[in-house]
Amino acid sequence: MSAEIISRRLTAIDIRNRKGGQPVVSLTAYHAHTAAIIDSFVDFILVGDSLGMVMHGLETTVPVTLDMMILQGQAVMRGSKRALVVVDLPFGSYEESPQAAFRSAARVMKETGCGAIKMEGGRHMAETVRFLSQRGVPVMGHVGLTPQSFNTMGGFKVQGRDAESAAAVTDDAVAIAEAGAFAIVLEGIVETLAGEITRKVAVPTIGIGASADCDGQILVLEDMLGLSPKVPKFVRRFGSLSAHIEESVRAYAEEVRARTFPSSDNVYKPKA
Ligand code: KIV
Repeated sequence: MSAEIISRRLTAIDIRNRKGGQPVVSLTAYHAHTAAIIDSFVDFILVGDSLGMVMHGLETTVPVTLDMMILQGQAVMRGSKRALVVVDLPFGSYEESPQAAFRSAARVMKETGCGAIKMEGGRHMAETVRFLSQRGVPVMGHVGLTPQSFNTMGGFKVQGRDAESAAAVTDDAVAIAEAGAFAIVLEGIVETLAGEITRKVAVPTIGIGASADCDGQILVLEDMLGLSPKVPKFVRRFGSLSAHIEESVRAYAEEVRARTFPSSDNVYKPKA
């Protein structure tokens, strides 16, 4: 499957079928314009609840609401044409019961038009993953470092460093794959463990702070563009947008102060 021969929007099934094939490329986006820029380069766009930290300056993703996710999900759907759009279910909108999760997922899918949702959690969420998958909701799983559990994990901590933790992450991934998840994000886990899980589960694994052996990779767009002030070790900055923005804004400020902006090119003249 290549970008050249697919003109319709990709689906969860297309991503599911990429297991063991060409690596799945994905990034987050929260805006229509960034979604439009990345659309032709990625297989799926995640409207991640990291928007709480990236867009709103929150310390964690815990305060993010379903309404925040829906608003940005709508923007990303408007901006993109080809990539599958996956929207995160935020903390508090799905954990209570499969029924609560279905209500939240159905709202997100109806109001944004996205093709799938993502939810964090392993064995304890397997029943919910099955409930949703059997009722028309494609579910992307997310195990390992699950940021919504910041308060119970005691911070953003790499998982799978010892045998017990590695076995727990593996069991989590296997449980949600067997429950019907079409792909699984592996976040913040030991490199060798990510490879082992990838070989063990029948659906694509999408790594972030995991391993090049995963079936695909995801990064937060602002982190890889060099727009976020602080990034974790697993991020490579492929660009330096902060410096570019600073230079542009400095030039603008200087021109406004010197009254050289706007120039005659930027103003309207009366009809001759
Ligand atoms: O919210 C997010 O951006 C995510 C990615 C880090 C996978 O869940």
